[in-house]
Amino acid sequence: MRLRAVRLPSVARSPQFFLNSLAASALENVSDTLTLTRPDDFHLHLRDGAALASVAGFTARQFGRALVMPNLKPPVTTVAMALAYRDRILRALPAGVAFEPLMTLYLTDRTGVDEVARVAESGAVKAFKYYPAGATTNSDSGVTSLKNVYGVLDAMQRHGVVLCVHGEVTDPATDVFDREAIFVEQSLTQVVRDFPALRIVVEHITTREAADFVSAAPAHVGATITPQHLLYNRTSIFTGGIRPHFYCLPILKRETHREALVEAAISGSPKFFLGTDSAPHARNSKETCCGAAGCFTSHAAIELYAEAFDAVGAIDKLDAFASRFGAEFYGLPRNADTITLLRESWSPPEEFAFGNETIVPLTQGRTLAWKMQ
Ligand code: DOR
Ligand code: ZN
Repeated sequence: MRLRAVRLPSVARSPQFFLNSLAASALENVSDTLTLTRPDDFHLHLRDGAALASVAGFTARQFGRALVMPNLKPPVTTVAMALAYRDRILRALPAGVAFEPLMTLYLTDRTGVDEVARVAESGAVKAFKYYPAGATTNSDSGVTSLKNVYGVLDAMQRHGVVLCVHGEVTDPATDVFDREAIFVEQSLTQVVRDFPALRIVVEHITTREAADFVSAAPAHVGATITPQHLLYNRTSIFTGGIRPHFYCLPILKRETHREALVEAAISGSPKFFLGTDSAPHARNSKETCCGAAGCFTSHAAIELYAEAFDAVGAIDKLDAFASRFGAEFYGLPRNADTITLLRESWSPPEEFAFGNETIVPLTQGRTLAWKMQ
């Protein structure tokens, strides 16, 4: 990153103050432009078919690479399926856009150890995604008991394959706001103990407990953080009525958890990196009596992160979080080109085409402070 945001100190209006403020205003102009190494999105839902064609370009415009989630119907469970999906993604991109989809496989009770070896050899497939069965959208084929996949986790550990974890318990009796913290305490602790060399990414962390766990874990345990969990808390879902476009899983938590996530994101620890979890659903399936989980953010993802970092005076930490730490975790080179953000107020569209339907973005009704050039 070339430029730094400047915070003006509140000092008495001495002659020195005027000198200081002259110098600061020159710097402030500079700080209105932010150049970053092109970032990567290490957690993304692109869907398939017409929906894929509607959303892929948004991510490809901002990011060099994205780790694409496998929760299609049917789920992407084999390397052969992932490679075919990768081709469909590449064909759906706008012409001339350089973007690399990084693929994942959906872990099920029936995944075989041979598939782990194929992933390790594939190059294009970077991780397995662990969904506890029933935890979230299209997770019916997920793992019903950790013990069912112990052989596969052992193979992943041996081959150095990454395990991406949706960290929530699924017992319907467990309060939805407690599901991540209980998963961390019960399941994640156990997996990290039983597979001490397994490379793990705890996806879309939402709690202080998860952030603390990852901070204290060995270096090969990391976490992604979404823009919505850095910017909003659970009250946002209920402000003036029910706001379905703020509903995702794991659900937004209390303010104290949001603060812990911001601390982790700006900490400079390479364990925490960008993963939007942008998850488009048609407007009709969100604005209904039983709405789908997922926030769509890929049209303005980097701007939302810039806002979250800027709000705490840490915009200088964005480059490493967005463009370096994730690539390092996955053993990938940094992207060679850059993107530039301007401090410029703008209002994204209220709605986007989504196949024959539309999507409402998380930013609906909002003005953003940063804009990608
Ligand atoms: O909110 C979510 N939406 N969380 C997930 O884990 C899945 C995602 C989706 O695919 O819509
Ligand atoms: Zn997701």
